[in-house]
Amino acid sequence: MDEEIARKAGEYLNTYRATKHIELADALIAATAFAADAELITRNIKHYPMNKIITTPRGIIIRQGQESDAQAYRELRLEALHNHPEAFSADFAIYDKQPMTYWTERLHSLEDERMIYFADCNDSLVGTCGIYRGDSPKTKHSGTIVGVYVKSEWRGLRIADEMIAACIVWARLHKIRIVKLGVNTANTSAIRCYTRCGFTTYGTEPQAIYANSRMYDELLMARTI
Ligand SMILES: CC(C)(COP(=O)(O)OP(=O)(O)OC[C@H]1O[C@@H](n2cnc3c(N)ncnc32)[C@H](O)[C@@H]1OP(=O)(O)O)[C@@H](O)C(=O)NCCC(=O)NCCS
Repeated sequence: MDEEIARKAGEYLNTYRATKHIELADALIAATAFAADAELITRNIKHYPMNKIITTPRGIIIRQGQESDAQAYRELRLEALHNHPEAFSADFAIYDKQPMTYWTERLHSLEDERMIYFADCNDSLVGTCGIYRGDSPKTKHSGTIVGVYVKSEWRGLRIADEMIAACIVWARLHKIRIVKLGVNTANTSAIRCYTRCGFTTYGTEPQAIYANSRMYDELLMARTI
């Protein structure tokens, strides 16, 4: 670190500490990138709002799941259910007992009926979501998005937006006309994400989920294709 970096870091702290909650380490890293005229690659774009600092969540790809993902999918899904019981109707204890064949079967390609997407960074799953369609001739025009989850250390990078976009592409390819989802009414960042992705609210399901010893309502959202 030299005087230029220290001075720049001080400038960043004065400008952004109050509104963006950046810390000394963030300011020093950003100032170093600035002084070196270098691109800063980070998973944490939130803490680098500075002008001329380019932040890129590099290396994340959104891809379809396959049977070989079964073990990693199980871990990711159980983490989601364990850490966010109020966000999902599926119950951790039940899924924890499922044999590995269950997870392989979930990923077994039923290309026309459902798909699971993963956000993958260097062969490690950091997010997931799924879509399935109605199973009768009268409902197969309708898709439902489920199980949207991003690992906590990867949040804030709009990964969920990308996974939802992949589901919408899948829906369009399969001639689905409308996609629906339910989201806890208290889950403001998920609701913002779905709104950005074109979903609007068509109702509220009262007391849809009982978790953490309380009831939660769910917002019902839909997007036509
Ligand atoms: C909802 C969820 C899927 C959004 O994923 P995401 O890709 O991080 O979405 P975003 O990039 O839009 O970030 C969401 C918010 O987290 C904030 N955030 C940033 N860094 C974060 C971090 N390290 N930890 C937590 N939140 C962070 C973002 O600022 C953003 O806030 P905003 O909505 O005010 O912009 C994710 O938060 C999640 O998995 N939550 C738990 C499970 C869940 O609720 N699933 C939805 C079921 S319907």
